[in-house]
Order: sequence, then structure tokens, then C-alpha cells
Amino acid sequence: MNKKRILTGDRPTGKLHLGHYVGSLANRVRLQEEYECFFIIADLHVLTTRPEKEHILAIQQNIHEIVLDYLTVGIDPQQSTIFVQSAIPGIYELNLIFEMLVSVSRLERVPSLKEMARDARLEAMPFGLLGYPVLQAADILLPRAHLVPVARDNEAHVEVAREIARRFNRLYGEVFPEPETLVGEVLVGTDGQAKASKSLNNVIYLSDDAATVERKVRAMYTDPQRVRADIPGRVEGNPVFIYHDAFNPDREEVEDLKERYRRGQVGDVEVKEKLARAINAFLEPIRERRAYYAAQPGLIEDILFTGMQRMRRESDETMSLVREAMGLAGPVTKPDLIMQRALAPGLIFC
Ligand code: TRP
Repeated sequence: MNKKRILTGDRPTGKLHLGHYVGSLANRVRLQEEYECFFIIADLHVLTTRPEKEHILAIQQNIHEIVLDYLTVGIDPQQSTIFVQSAIPGIYELNLIFEMLVSVSRLERVPSLKEMARDARLEAMPFGLLGYPVLQAADILLPRAHLVPVARDNEAHVEVAREIARRFNRLYGEVFPEPETLVGEVLVGTDGQAKASKSLNNVIYLSDDAATVERKVRAMYTDPQRVRADIPGRVEGNPVFIYHDAFNPDREEVEDLKERYRRGQVGDVEVKEKLARAINAFLEPIRERRAYYAAQPGLIEDILFTGMQRMRRESDETMSLVREAMGLAGPVTKPDLIMQRALAPGLIFC
């Protein structure tokens, strides 16, 4: 039986961090055997807010780091397809077709787009940024994916993809599965801000070394009311304990710390030292794999080349189905030319 498919991915704006792990990487690794997986490095999506050449030039290095991040957490390129978005012409093509199937007012109701425009300090909403979820729908539906593991902040985008799939199928016949969302948690930032995000500079990277992790954990935001260790503290919503819950496998230690924190019987220093130790234990094998893979010249290029070829085959298949379903002319095939030549022997086609 054919496996169901996953498509998900990341924008190459920087290295991946613990927020990515909790939001989506953990789900990908867990599901990569059960599903046929496609992981997209969405460089075209970066252009929606950062079209300047200097930003484009930085993308290359980020792509390299992200593939390394994937390998280090356990994504297996023998099993899963990793590819770069801009290398797949079918994505641009499907994007244009999908643009006809969604209204401007629908896209204006996607809240994250205005936030992205604001965060990037854009004066006006670019046409392409409004179309961000449409391009994402093309990513998802080109390999005809069934499941999309993303963090909660991308849920609204996948909803647009579902609507587009429904609309396409209704107009032209069943080509696309309606993709389900698998929502991962959003990790708080080390500064207590709602979201761990590179641009807020409140993240721990998968590639951070042990000393950096210790420094970042020591500076973490905790319960601001608690100016002394003997004051009872709040555990709920406290970033230090959210991170303990996410990364410390020693449940007993975590429960003990929470208990004593609530009673005012433990200092922040101890809670943080134990957290840094847990995060470093989690990251250590990841760091070792990073060193191992980074030492292999040409590895990343090979993975991306193979992924591109695999995805292009998939793309050709889907685009043929799309053209056929829609009744679009598509590429003129050679047999037609031969026929025409036979009918009009005086004309020479070359
Ligand atoms: N929008 C995702 C992000 O915020 C990246 C992305 C691009 C994506 N295309 C996708 C995620 C397709 C899931 C499926 O980083």
C-alpha cells in the first residue's frame, strides 16, 4: 500500500532552534517512517518580505545550515525528500493557477500576514506577501500531501490550502487530497515573549554550544515577582518550567523543582542550572551529529540535488494531472509537430 504523504518545511532565514523542534521537527522525525515525507526549504517565501539582493545572498548559507539541522535531529535523506523551493518550476506554475481560486478579501483576513509586514517594517502590503498562503498551498499540494506538521502560527495558512484544494477539486475534479494540519506547540522565548523567534533574539539554537546554552539559560526570564529565593513562585506560564517540561526527561527532578519553587524553597540558580544541564544533554548528540555531517564535503549538495530530482518528477506528474483536469493546453508534444509536418509538407519546423 502507498504511504500517505507529509509536506512541511522552513524559510531559510537562519538556523533552526528549539522552537522549531517543538513546533514541527519532533513531529517530522516521529512520522518519517509512517509517511512519505517531503521537506521544503522555502526560499521564495523569504522574498515576500525580503526581496533585496543582500538578503537573497544570505539565503545560500542558511539553506546549508538548515539541511544540517535536519540531519542532526534525525531526518533521514535516504527516506525523506529534502529540496529547495526555487528549484521546482512546478511550484511557480501551480501558484499562479491557485491565485485564481482564492479572493483578496479572504487573504486579507489571514492575521499573520499583517504581522509579517509590520515586523519587516514594510510600508505597504506587497502583492506577493498577501499571496504567501497561496504559495504555501502550492508547496503543500504539488506533492499532493495529506498531512502538514506546522506550529500553531501556520494553522491559518494550511486552512487556505485546504480551501484551495476543495475549490480546485470542485471546479475540475478530484486531483488533490484535502491536507490535514498537525499542530505543534509554540515555544515561548527565553525572554518570556509569546514566541521563540530569531528576530526577537530569544532562542536557543540546535547548534549552540554548551557554554552558550548555559549563558542563555542563566539570562532566562522567570517569575518577575520573585525577587528572593524564599518567596513562593509561579510555575504555570514560567518559561523556565515550560522548558523543563519540554526538554528535561527526568520527571521526578522537574516535579521536585516545581514543588519547591511553589513553596519558595529553591533558588532560580538551581532551577536554571538543572535546566541548562537537561538542554545540553538533549543537544549533545545533535552537536555530535552536526560535526560528523559537516565534515563530509559535498554531502549537503548531494542531498539537495537528489531531492530536487525527486521533487521535479513528482511535480511533473501533478502538473500533468492539473492540466488534464483543467483542460489547459500545456506543452505541445512532439507527435503533434510530426503530424503537422505530414499535413503541410511545404513548411519546415525546426
Ligand atoms: N510558512 C512556513 C514558516 O512560517 C514555511 C513554509 C513554507 C511551509 N511552505 C510551507 C510550512 C509548506 C509548511 C508547508 O516558516
